[in-house]
Amino acid sequence: MEKNNNQGMNWLNLTKLTLPVKVLFTSYLLISSLGFIVAGVLILLTHGLYDGKFGVSIDDIVYSYYGKRDGSKLEVALRGSMKPYATEEERKILIDWVRRGAPDEEIDKKIMPIIQKRCASCHSQMPELDITKKEVLKQMAEVDTGISISRLTKLSHIHLFGMSFIFMFIGFIFSFSIGINRILKSVLIAVPFVFQFIDILAWWLTKFLPWFAWFVIAGGFGYFVASWIMIVISLYQMWFMKPVNKNSWLWD
Ligand code: HEC
Repeated sequence: MEKNNNQGMNWLNLTKLTLPVKVLFTSYLLISSLGFIVAGVLILLTHGLYDGKFGVSIDDIVYSYYGKRDGSKLEVALRGSMKPYATEEERKILIDWVRRGAPDEEIDKKIMPIIQKRCASCHSQMPELDITKKEVLKQMAEVDTGISISRLTKLSHIHLFGMSFIFMFIGFIFSFSIGINRILKSVLIAVPFVFQFIDILAWWLTKFLPWFAWFVIAGGFGYFVASWIMIVISLYQMWFMKPVNKNSWLWD
């Protein structure tokens, strides 16, 4: 009776799964690997091309989340051809206003007085460039402030639910592997979840503080590598290892 019990537990590792279960696990692992590859291509095609160069760089991530806030016509002009027409202090006020997304409520009190004093003499004569008109001024002040909060919220929620499912199953299958130190196994299983959290937190931080872009890349890279290690080990043990009589959940 006792011997029987032991044998009953012996199947519980990747090398001894029955064919249908191996086929199920393998199909899932292969399709989710494909999912990772497609996700990689998608990232290259979206974030990757922001700075006009192939490949994902820190600038790409900054442009995607934080935006390109020094790219408005007004700031470019104030740093270039229009630089001599305003004082250092005035230019600072204008540029700061533009970078904060040119809030409407500051125009009348803070912004327009400077424009009237320094720029109107020429610009009120140029209908296309009449920045003493609010609409024209706002058009010139338009900046790319990156991803919108609502889109960021939506992406976060999709990733948190969706990715945790993927990591759950990859980790679950991998938990049946043998010959891997229990602590190491636990770490590998936890890493994708931790990095997923870091990644999403970093999206939000990068939206406001561009230097967190590094964490976006580290986060994504981290969970990709950990998942990939678990997938490869699981596939290898299912198909290339001789059956081992061990219970993967009790032994390693
Ligand atoms: C002496 C006349 C003069 C003054 C003063 C002047 N500008 Fe201009 N500005 C021009 C002319 C002419 C152009 C169009 C040709 C060019 O872009 O250089 C222009 C163009 C611009 C543009 C458009 C650039 C683009 O990319 O289309 C902006 C923005 C601008 N000025 C902002 C300002 C601001 C802000 C001030 C005040 C601090 C100012 N200008 C003061 C003459 C002036």
